[in-house]
Amino acid sequence: MTKQKYAISEYLDAEKVTAQLKALTSQPLRPLRRDVMDDALTYFETRCAKSKTITDEAKKYIPGGVQHNLAFNYPFPIAIEKAEGAYMWDVDGNKYIDFLQAGGPTVLGSNYAPVREKVLEIVHSCGPVTGLFHEYELKLAKLITEHMPAVEMFRMLGSGTESVMAAIRAARTFTGKKKIIKVGGGYHGWSDQMVYGLHIPGTGRMEATGIPRSATRHTQEFFPNNIAALRRKLIANRLRGGTAAVIVEPVGPESGTRPVPFEFNKQVRELCYEFGALLIFDEVVTGFRLGMGGAQGYFDIKPDLTIFGKCVTGGYPMAGGVGGRRDVITTFAPGIGGTGERAYIGGTLSANPMSCVAGYHAIKEMERTNAAVIAGQAGDRLRAGLQAIISKYDLPFVAYSTGSIVHLETSGVMLLDLKNPLKTLKEIKSRKHMIEEMGAAYMSQGVITLAGSRLYTSMATTDAIIDEALEKFDYVLSKVEGVG
Ligand SMILES: Cc1ncc(COP(=O)(O)O)c(C=O)c1O
Repeated sequence: MTKQKYAISEYLDAEKVTAQLKALTSQPLRPLRRDVMDDALTYFETRCAKSKTITDEAKKYIPGGVQHNLAFNYPFPIAIEKAEGAYMWDVDGNKYIDFLQAGGPTVLGSNYAPVREKVLEIVHSCGPVTGLFHEYELKLAKLITEHMPAVEMFRMLGSGTESVMAAIRAARTFTGKKKIIKVGGGYHGWSDQMVYGLHIPGTGRMEATGIPRSATRHTQEFFPNNIAALRRKLIANRLRGGTAAVIVEPVGPESGTRPVPFEFNKQVRELCYEFGALLIFDEVVTGFRLGMGGAQGYFDIKPDLTIFGKCVTGGYPMAGGVGGRRDVITTFAPGIGGTGERAYIGGTLSANPMSCVAGYHAIKEMERTNAAVIAGQAGDRLRAGLQAIISKYDLPFVAYSTGSIVHLETSGVMLLDLKNPLKTLKEIKSRKHMIEEMGAAYMSQGVITLAGSRLYTSMATTDAIIDEALEKFDYVLSKVEGVG
C-alpha cells in the first residue's frame, strides 16, 4: 500500500523542462514521414466510415459540426458510442485507449459504475432537478470543505467558466478593486473578461472576437513565471483602481503546459498579501486530480478563492463551483443585503440533485480508492516510457508530467510566445498542423490524446494498458522524419 498522499511522486524540474521546450521550438519541425501519415489517414477513411457520415451530416445542423474541441478533429471528428474505464469505442466499433478522459474529470476512469448507480438512483427518486434544496447539496459542500484546506464554504455552479465569473465578481465586490491579473497563456474558461492572453502569452485580445474592449479593460496578463512582471503590474494598478485578484492555474498555464517552479505559487501568494489582492486558484483540472486536497494541499498554499470544475462531479454535467474564505464567498449569498449589495450569481440547473449526488459519491470513491495517487503513478509510468522512446530515437520532443497530467510536446505550438512575434506568426500554422497530424496518427494506432499533446491517466489506467499504449507511441515516434 502506498504512503503517497498526492498524485505527484516527484515535482518536475520546471527550469529544465522549460529549457527543453525552448530547444524544441527553436528547431525546425520533425513531422511524421509522409507515407506513414498517408497510412494514418487511410485508417480514418476505411475504418471510421460511420463516424464520417454522422459528423458530415452534423455540419448541416451544428455550427462547425462539432460541439467539443478537446481532441483535434483531424481529419474528421470521431463519434464515440461507449466509454468505460481506460477505453472508448467509436460507432464503427474501433477500440481506443483513452488518455483524453473527457478532458480530465474522470480520475476514477470513465463511466465508473459505483457513481453511475448512485446517479441512477437519484434520477429514479426525484429526477435530475426540482428547483428546491436537496440534502446532497449539503453533503457535497461539507465533503469539499473537509478535504480542501482553503475552502470554508462552497457554492456549486454549472461550469468552470461560470465559476471563474462568479469568483471574479466576488473578488471585486469584496475588495472594491477592479483589475484581474492572469498568467499569459492560461485558460480560465470563455467568459468575456477571460478571453485574453489565451494559449500564447502576450496575445491579449487576439482571440477576443465578438467581445467589446470594455469587457477586457480590466484584465491583464503577465508572462509565465515572471514574478517581477507580476509585481510591476500590481504596483502600476495601485493608481488604476487596484487589483481585485490574481488568478492562476497552480501547475502552470494550460494544465502545466508551461510548468511552474515549485515556489511560484508561494511567491504569488505573498505578492497578493502585499498588495491586498485576492489569490484565486483555478483548480478546474487539479482539484481532486492532484489529490484530495487539490493543488492547494500539495503546494500548501491557501488561496482566497478556489475554482472547481469538471472533477467536482467526476464528469457528470453541471460541474463547477467556487470555494473559499467565508467572508469573501458570502458576498454572493442569496438573501444577504439589499438590492445592489450582493454579487449577483444564478443558474437554474446549478447544484441540481443529480450533479450533487455524482460529486459526493465521486469524491467519496476517490477518497476510498486513493484514485488520484494511483492515476498519478500511472502518469509517472507513462511519462517515463515516453521519455525513453524519445531518447531511443534521439528526438527533440519533450515528455513531462505533474502526476496524472502528462504532456508530450512534439511541435511545441503552445510554447510559442510573442517575445518573437515574427517567428511565432510564421510558425503557428505549421506547428498546429503537425500536432493535428500527431493526434490523428496516435488515434489511428488506437490511442486518444487531448489535442495530440496532453494525456490524462485515471485509476483505470493499469500498467498493462500503459505498456500497450507505449508500444503504439513507439511505433508512431519511430516514423518521425529523420529517425533511423
Ligand atoms: C483551468 C481551467 N479553468 C477553467 C476551465 C473552464 O471550465 P468549463 O469548461 O467547465 O467551463 C477549464 C476547462 O478546461 C480549465 O481547464
